[in-house]
Amino acid sequence: MRILLGVGGGIAAYKAAELARLLMQEGHQVRVIMTDAAQEFVRPLTFAALTGQKTLTDMFAIESAIEHISVAQGHDLLVIAPATGDLIAKLAHGLAGDFLTTLYLAFTGPVVIAPAMNVNMWMHAATQANLETLRKRGHRIVDPESGYLACGMTGPGRLAGLETIAAAIGRELSKRRDLDGETVLITAGPTQEPLDPVRYISNRSSGKMGYALAEAAAARGARAILISGPVRLAPPRGVEVVSVRTAAEMREKVLENLEPAGIVIKAAAVADFHLSKVPDHKVKKTAARITLELDPTPDILAELGRNKGDRLLIGFAAETQNVEQEARRKLESKNCDMVVGNLVGGETGFESDENEAVLVMRTGETISLPRAPKREIADRVLDEALKLRLALYAAHGR
Ligand code: PMT
Repeated sequence: MRILLGVGGGIAAYKAAELARLLMQEGHQVRVIMTDAAQEFVRPLTFAALTGQKTLTDMFAIESAIEHISVAQGHDLLVIAPATGDLIAKLAHGLAGDFLTTLYLAFTGPVVIAPAMNVNMWMHAATQANLETLRKRGHRIVDPESGYLACGMTGPGRLAGLETIAAAIGRELSKRRDLDGETVLITAGPTQEPLDPVRYISNRSSGKMGYALAEAAAARGARAILISGPVRLAPPRGVEVVSVRTAAEMREKVLENLEPAGIVIKAAAVADFHLSKVPDHKVKKTAARITLELDPTPDILAELGRNKGDRLLIGFAAETQNVEQEARRKLESKNCDMVVGNLVGGETGFESDENEAVLVMRTGETISLPRAPKREIADRVLDEALKLRLALYAAHGR
């Protein structure tokens, strides 16, 4: 694989030379980009000698004005080690003042960030907030280790072990294309069921979980089709988004896009009831009490379960109690292969940037995913989905 190694200006910059060598020993091609500050600690020549390639240092001393774009496009992964507090802040805020930060904006592949700094800088709320932004963006942060630091203090801040960084890179690279050639169909968000032309019934789903799944699937090489209820989220990069409003529209678009999909993930919180006959005009307010007679909406997941063929079918279950039990009941009743059960009503689940889930599988296995950003949960769900598919093939030839 072709790896870009960005080196920031910290005392740990010298360890990046060892990292470059380790990655090359693993068979990767390595191209190094150094910030100005990094060059105060190590010379570009060190990396050029190790990698056999010119080290990139200066935005304006390069062969073409768009070299940062062509370099970005020609590589599979960007690792930044050591990442200083300053560099982390620039990446989080999209400041692109030098070759490395400009290239970062142009790069679309997986990004691994290995911070190293003084313990107080590491613990500072600004650094932690910036890291959280980068995590949510889907980047892998390899946390620093605790120990004696160059500044004389002891605590977290020392660059993670090179083997640990190399292992994180390996995981990102193997994940990168494991959905190549696949189509993954995902639903997200709530549905809105109109009561009249200005009112509707809906729920608290923000769409964040489904969008994270679509983004993760696309990043891993899949054609990701996202059937989305009304949400306030930007379309994830590389994902085909089909917008719908009601459960009936969601059903129609799911069925229309089902044929190429090998994996279907139903993260949407579909309204369970709707008004069959919606009045043409706004219902006037009077002093009288009104009663709504609601009919069930089509259960899309159950319908897919009846006709799933060779597809891997993954449902979600939002529960306020007995999550595992309820998730397993839904797995059976809707003929799913996996159900992702979330505990909702607290700090995770609806609207939150984080989730906590229990995965119940057709094989009888149950896996707990501790609280984590939804983008990380999305990757774990996809990891387990691929393992499950292999297990089902092995057991039943499907
Ligand atoms: O959107 P977020 O704010 O990020 O929140 C995420 C989430 C909590 C909405 C999501 O992770 C989740 O749990 N989604 C499913 C919520 C839900 O509606 O659960 P349910 O138990 O009502 O439905 C079970 C399954 O059947 C779901 O896969 C649902 O998509 C599907 N279903 C339900 C009703 C229906 N008419 N058709 C369906 O396909």
